[in-house]
Amino acid sequence: MFNTRRQFLKAAGAGGIGLLAPLGVAGIVNAAESISWFKNPLGIPPLETGSFINGKRVINLSLGYGTSAFLGNRPTATVGINGDYLGPVIRVNQSDDVVLKVTNNLSEPSTLHWHGLNLPAAMDGGPHQAINPGETWNAAFKIHPGACTQWYHSHMYHRTGIQVYYGLAGLFYIDDERSNALGLPSTYGVDDIPLVLQDRSLNQDGSLRYLGSMHDRMMGMMGQLMLVNGTAFARFKVQKRLTRLRILNGSNARIYNLVFDDQREFLQIATEGGLLERPVSLRNIVLAPGERVEILVEFTPGDDVMLRHRPLPRRAGSAGATMGMMGNMMAANDQPFSIMRFDAAQSSSTLQPVPTRLITPRNWSLNEAVRTRRFELNMQMGMGMMRGGGFGINGRPMDMSRIDQRVPLGDIEIWEIINRSPMAHPFHIHDTQFRIIDRNGRAPGAGEQGLKDTVLVYPREIVRIITQFENYTDSKTPYMFHCHILEHEDAGMMGQFVVVA
Ligand code: C2O
Ligand code: CU
Ligand code: CU
Repeated sequence: MFNTRRQFLKAAGAGGIGLLAPLGVAGIVNAAESISWFKNPLGIPPLETGSFINGKRVINLSLGYGTSAFLGNRPTATVGINGDYLGPVIRVNQSDDVVLKVTNNLSEPSTLHWHGLNLPAAMDGGPHQAINPGETWNAAFKIHPGACTQWYHSHMYHRTGIQVYYGLAGLFYIDDERSNALGLPSTYGVDDIPLVLQDRSLNQDGSLRYLGSMHDRMMGMMGQLMLVNGTAFARFKVQKRLTRLRILNGSNARIYNLVFDDQREFLQIATEGGLLERPVSLRNIVLAPGERVEILVEFTPGDDVMLRHRPLPRRAGSAGATMGMMGNMMAANDQPFSIMRFDAAQSSSTLQPVPTRLITPRNWSLNEAVRTRRFELNMQMGMGMMRGGGFGINGRPMDMSRIDQRVPLGDIEIWEIINRSPMAHPFHIHDTQFRIIDRNGRAPGAGEQGLKDTVLVYPREIVRIITQFENYTDSKTPYMFHCHILEHEDAGMMGQFVVVA
């Protein structure tokens, strides 16, 4: 770990680039010094709205190799969708019929999964929909959810971690009329800004470094260089006083606790599944891999602030304080660092009012639930760890040929997710959005009281969610549920369910 970081520091120095915020090194990044490093204009992914053919919105996506220059002129071999690294922001309307034509120009099979969407299992883009090199896969489905920020990424069996790490991911926006009418900031790239947070590590030659150690496999791959939309040391020149940030944690494993360096308040307006009932005022927000939030931030002229990660307070009885070796490994990784800079020198517009009520997110009541399913997340210590971690759910690692759960269409169900392992896992369910009922019996915070598709389950926590699978059945083709730490998913912390009539 540290050896690699030194090599990386050396590599950056050798290139004469002078750009490096060493992640995981407390105290080295002093605010005055670090802010001057953040001068690369934040990359804004192109919008992709497709074209209408016979009433369907058709979008062409091609997976291919590319080259990126994360640190100045040192080239890094990457993979992208219609580009060198990451993909466009796909933007569609509720009720559209879409056809996504995905061509694989890589030399290995891959997939694209539409994370957060309700769709037929055969269109989900999971491990069962692998696209071979040179082939095109057509995913055709109807857009059911209202306005929300979804995303898409590789879900290749055993290869999701490395394929996403190299760049196979992008955002997927859905618009609807009701939320358009709310008057929220919504000019793409101007006052409605996507932020895809990813941490990466580079070798001396500029190539991406993936899974260098046992630690990377156990804890998930965490990098030492912060990218936002593929930009290292990103700076966004704020244009409007009220700016909406749509933030995706697109990292393989890192959990962020996001704060501004001046501790300013901001308003959370959305979770994964769309807008909240009303804006929630916060000073920090925890975002685990796979999760999205939308926030509104007021920047006044002259503001020059950093978005930072601040280590989470230790939870009583949780990992770190008490878990010995694993705790130390986790603690070593949790240091403050800067993510990106917001420079509001030019912002001047008047502050637009924020509606006090947004929408009424879907909910289900407990007494409507017809059953409870239990999911225990397994991660073995000791010898199991040396053999590859013993990652599984309910005692079994993922098996493509085994269906773990059969869910009747339309039944309202409670899923109870149990984490007795020493680290937090973000649990994700395909094909649906859910509501969190409680965490160890306690109602979730206001910022989690909306529709979600990924929930962080802390050590020694039991999280109950309630949901309903609608619209599609297929007794043969499964959807996935899994930990969204991609190395855990690849190592077996994933299971399969079918929705049946
Ligand atoms: Cu974001 Cu099964 O994935
Ligand atoms: Cu998903
Ligand atoms: Cu996990």
